[in-house]
Amino acid sequence: MKRHIRFSDDENFLILLDQRYLPEEKWFVCRNVEDIVYAIKKMVVRGAPAIGIVAGYGCYLAAATTDPSDPNWQKIVKEKLELIAEARPTAVNLVHVIKKMEEAWMLDPDMSLEDLKWIWLKMAKEIHNEDVIANQTMGKLAQELIPQKATIMTHCNAGALATGGYGTALGVIRAAKSAGKDIRVIANETRPFLQGARITAYELYYDDIPVKVICDNSAAYLMAKGMVDLVVVGADRIASNGDTANKIGTYNLAVLCNYHNIPFYVAAPSSTFDLSISSGKDIPIEERPEKEVTHIDGKRIVPEGVGVYNFAFDVTPNELITAIITEKGIIRPPYDLNIEKLIGPEFRKKEKK
Ligand code: MRU
Repeated sequence: MKRHIRFSDDENFLILLDQRYLPEEKWFVCRNVEDIVYAIKKMVVRGAPAIGIVAGYGCYLAAATTDPSDPNWQKIVKEKLELIAEARPTAVNLVHVIKKMEEAWMLDPDMSLEDLKWIWLKMAKEIHNEDVIANQTMGKLAQELIPQKATIMTHCNAGALATGGYGTALGVIRAAKSAGKDIRVIANETRPFLQGARITAYELYYDDIPVKVICDNSAAYLMAKGMVDLVVVGADRIASNGDTANKIGTYNLAVLCNYHNIPFYVAAPSSTFDLSISSGKDIPIEERPEKEVTHIDGKRIVPEGVGVYNFAFDVTPNELITAIITEKGIIRPPYDLNIEKLIGPEFRKKEKK
């Protein structure tokens, strides 16, 4: 997959593959924090790790576009960071990245804006690269769960385009393919933004991995017919008990897997865990504009005056998850204990700083 998040050192801007138009390829340029916030809110870029990475470059742009001679520059930069942090509420990666950047600043609160700017650019690039490495590691580790021949269902897009590159759920699939396994993918179309039909199908087709798209409401029928060997999805936020927020409709699939006795896996880097919350009840769920549901291609499909629900995410209770694949290892129930063992020490270290 081509790099969809590119920082131009020469021209000092961030360029993003605009995911609103895929499979048509258009690019979106971010020169300041307003552009970054717009890109995250409007889903030019989406997917929890990708949002975190873009937020990192956004911190650099926050510093780079602030006047160093302004006596209030510190306050101005802080306000810009808050705007980025608030762009979307569910993916915890965004919050983690902003926090990490602020912590680096607070190691020397009197540093110059010039120094801060370069520190943040270096950190943004590191966060970007580390995410790709975490995805590749996750893909390799997951192979003990993936049979030699399998049809894998996935929901939304947890691929290269939702991360720094390679992908979480699609990283597991890519690694299986690289290991010579006979893999077929069923991509749920994922109404209303159609991440499955437009983005997952685009990525897999590009990489020559056989994929078929289904309407979201077909999943049960295919499972009942024995057409699905396992489901693997990504995550936006995982609570300390393993409850997992991911794209709306993920919970439906987990219930269906449970009924049909099909393994249901979540693939996510440690940056997607939020050990400050004890269960999924504390995960903020984004509600998006009604128009995403009431209109298709600008044309109204729901009668005027009729309201809709447009929750962007749901929470899958931990008891429906067979295992969580991370770059640190595969986590199985009991999740509260095993998440604490594997992810806890690093998380607590960061919390203490
Ligand atoms: O609304 P989106 O497209 O940002 O939602 C994305 C998802 O739900 C992904 O599955 C999740 O962020 C994991 S991406 C590796």
